[in-house]
Amino acid sequence: MAKEFFKGSVLFGPLPAVLVTTVDAAGVPNVFTVSWIGIACSHPPMLTIAVRKERLSYDNIRATNEFVVNLTTAAMVGITDFCGCRSGRRVDKIKHFDLQLVPGVAVVVPSLEMSPVALECRVVSVSELGSHDLFVAEIVGNKVDHSLLDRDGKIRLGESGLLAYCHGEYFALARRPLGTFGHSVAKRPRRRPRVTRGRPRGPGGKG
Ligand SMILES: Cc1cc2nc3c(=O)[nH]c(=O)nc-3n(C[C@H](O)[C@H](O)[C@H](O)COP(=O)(O)O)c2cc1C
Repeated sequence: MAKEFFKGSVLFGPLPAVLVTTVDAAGVPNVFTVSWIGIACSHPPMLTIAVRKERLSYDNIRATNEFVVNLTTAAMVGITDFCGCRSGRRVDKIKHFDLQLVPGVAVVVPSLEMSPVALECRVVSVSELGSHDLFVAEIVGNKVDHSLLDRDGKIRLGESGLLAYCHGEYFALARRPLGTFGHSVAKRPRRRPRVTRGRPRGPGGKG
């Protein structure tokens, strides 16, 4: 495939677009949109988010060392975009959308009731990179909506209609998977990819 060469930039995707909740030192909550996010370690479970210093959320995370990553669905695309375009310094985004908050379990920061999965995070380090600071955080708890649990109590994350972000555009993740982890090396090739049920495997769980 012939390629055009561009100077280095963050041309990368698809990415999630998650809603990150925080509180300030007085406990006042805020929510903002984050796409510069990635899983960094399995044991202990860790993720990174990159945040610009000028965000209200940056100050809140610095004040408490905690935040919550709320996964988003296609139905939340309008809220996700708005929370990424308006600062909590100018508008109370939680009031604006009448977002229902659920108290934190392992952290003081609440999660969004409408989000199917919320990851409670505690910051372990911060690195100044340039435009953004990189927060490395341990995932100290996961809240999972009951609708995503099958009869065996296993998590069906792929069926929650998650939202993806790619080069300025939002996409809904297809509910039907193209394959499951390991299908390319399975002893007997499957005729049709089976829907992943249960504990996430491969990069989802063991990466
Ligand atoms: C799809 C999308 C992804 C974004 N990702 C990030 C990000 O990863 N880091 C960041 O600092 N800002 C990101 N932003 C911008 C912030 O969400 C935005 O500046 C927000 O208004 C900050 O809110 P706050 O001041 O209330 O914290 C993103 C915006 C959008 C729309």
